Amino acid sequence: MRLSSHIVSILASAVFSLAAGVASAAPEDSPWGRDYFTNVEVVPHDGAPARFYDDLVEDRIVVINFIYTRCVDICPLTTGRMAEIVEKLGDRVGKDIHVYSITLEPEYDTPEVLASFADAFDAPEGWRFVTGDPAIIHPLRFKLGERARIKEAHRHDLLLGNDRTGEWERTSMFSDVDILVDRILAMDPAWRAIERDTISASLPSNQLLKINHPGESLFAKACAACHNIGDGDKVGPDLVGLSERRDRAWLQEFLLQPEVVLATGDPIAKQLDARFPNARMPNLGLSMSDIEDLLAYIDFRTEE
Ligand code: HEC
Repeated sequence: MRLSSHIVSILASAVFSLAAGVASAAPEDSPWGRDYFTNVEVVPHDGAPARFYDDLVEDRIVVINFIYTRCVDICPLTTGRMAEIVEKLGDRVGKDIHVYSITLEPEYDTPEVLASFADAFDAPEGWRFVTGDPAIIHPLRFKLGERARIKEAHRHDLLLGNDRTGEWERTSMFSDVDILVDRILAMDPAWRAIERDTISASLPSNQLLKINHPGESLFAKACAACHNIGDGDKVGPDLVGLSERRDRAWLQEFLLQPEVVLATGDPIAKQLDARFPNARMPNLGLSMSDIEDLLAYIDFRTEE
């Protein structure tokens, strides 16, 4: 560890322990306290029932998003991005910062189903997947601003809150991961007081590549949460050597509509699905030219 980053991490933990010493619920004048959220009973994926406000929100910095495990389009990707964020937040998750992914389909997503989903994304202890009685979860998500009438139309936002200061804000899940991490850390006023630049400089940066390739940024945004190229399996298979093991036409079909290829009983898709039972390759709405760029980029990284 470089000395400067060591100093920053000591500084950071000092700030957090300072902040943790101030025990109080939402400020008097904040509308976002127990009365607003109500203290309903929810069930995190580890199975122990919890009071939403008292056990999950009170006195905490929280990061919340909405998912459902049967989602075939974009939410597996948002979960993959959440996994990247959680990884960058490191030890703070579960201590200074609490992460909740609340299901939009409590009717199907039991704690057991959510536990396998959490497993697929290697979720550490401080990242909890939350379900409960549908009669409780639906009104709760409504209060948290997720008001889609049909779950397929739901938002892909991150909701950030600091109960102690009464600050709540919403941001897109698709901003740059380092920027998102920075915004989450900035929910702590003590953190804001430290010179931000010093801290961002110490955060692990995104993979930097020597050559800018057209598929590179799309891969970083839409695929890297779940796939490595050459560093082993992640949520999905390592994509190194993809063009050597798969036919071009199959790849195009699969990347355009993975769920359709699987549903037709395609043997390769079935085999992959069996190897990665807890996650699905999402339909990301890629165009043919996106696919060409991505495959060229994967080939380029394979040859490196
Ligand atoms: C949420 C996680 C996730 C995201 C995001 C994701 N994938 Fe996947 N991908 C998977 C999983 C899981 C599989 C294995 C098949 C299955 O279980 O559906 C897979 C399979 C694949 C395969 C087949 C690999 C093989 O060995 O034949 C390719 C190709 C692929 N993904 C490419 C991509 C590309 C390109 C992107 C970005 C545009 C992407 N994936 C985004 C999870 C993801």
